[in-house]
Amino acid sequence: MKNWFSWLTAVVTLIVLITSCKDGKGSKGSFEIGDKTFLLNGKPFVVKAAEIHYTRIPAEYWEHRIKMCKALGMNTICIYAFWNIHEQKPDEFDFSGQNDVAAFCKLAQKHDMYIILRPGPYVCAEWEMGGLPWWLLKKKDIQLRTNDPYFLERTRLFINQMGKQLADRQITRGGNIIMVQVENEYGSYATDKEYIAHIRDMVKGAGFTDVPLFQCDWSSNFTNNALDDLLWTVNFGTGADIDQQFKKLKELRPNTPLMCSEFWSGWFDHWGRKHETRDAATMVNGIKEMLDRNISFSLYMTHGGTTFGHWGGANSPAYSAMCSSYDYDAPISEAGWATEKYHILREALAAYMPAGEKQSEVPEAFPVIEIPEITFTSVAPLFDNLPQPKESTDIRPMEQFDQGWGSILYRTTLPEEVKEGTSLVITEVHDWAQVFADGQLLARLDRRRGENVVKLPALKAGTRLDILVEAMGRVNFDKAIHDRKGITEKVELVSGDTSAELKNWKVYSFPVDYGFVKDKAFKEGSKQDGPAYYRATFNLDKTGDVFLDMQTWGKGMVWVNGKAMGRFWEIGPQQTLFMPGCWLKKGENEIIVLDLKGPEKAAIRGVNKPILDVLRQEVPTTHRKEGQTLDLSKEKVWFAGSFKPGNGWQEITFEKPMKIRQFCLEALSSQDGKEVASMAEFYLLGSDGKPLSRQHWQIGYADSEEIKSGNRTADKIYDLQESTFWQTVQGTPYPHTVVIDLREEQTVSGLRYLPRAEQGTPGMIKDFRVYGKMTPFSY
Ligand code: GLA
Ligand code: CA
Repeated sequence: MKNWFSWLTAVVTLIVLITSCKDGKGSKGSFEIGDKTFLLNGKPFVVKAAEIHYTRIPAEYWEHRIKMCKALGMNTICIYAFWNIHEQKPDEFDFSGQNDVAAFCKLAQKHDMYIILRPGPYVCAEWEMGGLPWWLLKKKDIQLRTNDPYFLERTRLFINQMGKQLADRQITRGGNIIMVQVENEYGSYATDKEYIAHIRDMVKGAGFTDVPLFQCDWSSNFTNNALDDLLWTVNFGTGADIDQQFKKLKELRPNTPLMCSEFWSGWFDHWGRKHETRDAATMVNGIKEMLDRNISFSLYMTHGGTTFGHWGGANSPAYSAMCSSYDYDAPISEAGWATEKYHILREALAAYMPAGEKQSEVPEAFPVIEIPEITFTSVAPLFDNLPQPKESTDIRPMEQFDQGWGSILYRTTLPEEVKEGTSLVITEVHDWAQVFADGQLLARLDRRRGENVVKLPALKAGTRLDILVEAMGRVNFDKAIHDRKGITEKVELVSGDTSAELKNWKVYSFPVDYGFVKDKAFKEGSKQDGPAYYRATFNLDKTGDVFLDMQTWGKGMVWVNGKAMGRFWEIGPQQTLFMPGCWLKKGENEIIVLDLKGPEKAAIRGVNKPILDVLRQEVPTTHRKEGQTLDLSKEKVWFAGSFKPGNGWQEITFEKPMKIRQFCLEALSSQDGKEVASMAEFYLLGSDGKPLSRQHWQIGYADSEEIKSGNRTADKIYDLQESTFWQTVQGTPYPHTVVIDLREEQTVSGLRYLPRAEQGTPGMIKDFRVYGKMTPFSY
């Protein structure tokens, strides 16, 4: 009997072991909110989380990156789930391979790392449409991130799928998930507690019932949507004043554990803007400051990785698409290397390891190779490779042709002759268009610069007009996430007072799938003027990580061995594409490039270092040309006032509202008596006292902009990011001026101003004057 019993015990243990090994789980535990602290299995616990995104790291490298985070001294991995990569077509869910989020969590658990899950539905993250699927935009009147029934229903279906994948991986069930986030920074989108409550209920309904659910927001707006039964956390970046950031939260909930749910280690890069970096020592000081007060944090990003393929997002106003590299100036570089920032941070975190524990060894970086020049000898011009067109009387956006990403060609024939000087007006170009008449390139239009008009030469009736529009990333922030692609409304011929809409289009879709790209009719040839696909093969005797040098190419995308590597654009700042060695092969490899402009030289080398900071901009990044000085001597002061000292939004109403197109703020002095002026965000108020849309704003002039130590140009006052700001250069005295071109007539009744939130708050403006008029200022 005793024998029989021990035999049975052994079998049961074995079964338990096998099954638990298979699903990678351990013993059941708990994670709870205690008094001013988190409780892990009943004991006080400070979360030290490293944010990394599984879709931005080749699956083959997940474990390496997790080990890199662990070796820093972190105890948790924080992840977003990107809805649009998991459900690329409605109801077709993909959680396999690169999308296997459960496998990723299991790997983290193997290394004793907990997981914070942020399933959206919206995530921001500089990711296409903030993680929302493009096909939602097929519904013409959809209101994203609201109680729109269709939006809620699709969200529920997705969150349920997340539950199926991960609910059983909560710590209470033997997994490693300790917290789940509800929505993302909703305070900077809208005020709607009912909507947040819906999302919370969906997250619970999907099975995430056993761990704390939380909301993350900015300290300036977290109360807008804060629900009583959720944990509140705040996001802020390197350099922020920590006490200030938590002040309000502590007042409202004196006993809550404090957590910075996103502490920004660096920042993201846009095409055509200076490469972003953040100081390592300042970042580490912030982390130390938090840990000294037992404040939990997640370091966003600890490793940014790469936004492969077409998945990069964009910001707006002033539409601005994201680069493919998401290096983020994070401690672990895009290719997984330990940077100097990494080592400084690791050293600092050593002091905060639990008693008796030591940081694990830093794993070695993967080998790097170089690839000698690959010359492209086969080419498939885009215009010789048109797919089957669809016919449409009116212009419609890409989504209406069931296309999500890539380029779209609108073709029509001019019904009548066109006189020289007639304007072709496209409303709106999303995002980069080339206009051809009978195959001749007439113009290129860039949405980033608000370009949408082409002055036409004389053209005969019957001329073939082609408008090829490339979609860059969909906007991932604020209301502009309703970002339909292609041409969104109409195309007109405008001459004097008359305008005629062009109709009867043939529409050709060029999706980004490798399947579409690979079987073009490639023929012998190299450099082409105009859009074309290029193909080459290259042989390797060993594989390794490498960076594809795209410096001789124009604008487009790259596929290697069937994988979409990302976008390139000559303007930079990114000039190389990270090519993970795990996706290369010994022997023959294939590379395809789509260049929409045409290269200077159709060749690519593989180099051993990334180039992320070479800007080849056609326009200046600052807003004051050589020799310009704003002259306000003849202008009439509209309003004069003073800002109060201290952080937070301030609102000022002018005595009399005015209709204007041009606005000037003249800062006369600072709160600290020093010469620097700075400003994080700025709005003008309309006749109803509400903030006006800044969608078409452009900076006309700024007297001084600091671009040596960071990107502190004046356009940062309307980029919707409270952590970015305009700052003048040290040594340039007051007054400091900024001119905003509203690019439309608006009635203005006041302003809203947010000083920058950094420690010591340098550059806070005190006295100021404003000017407004319909015609441009003189400078
Ligand atoms: C916010 C968002 C993140 C990311 C960062 C900036 O905090 O929540 O998804 O966009 O900004 O990198
Ligand atoms: Ca800003």
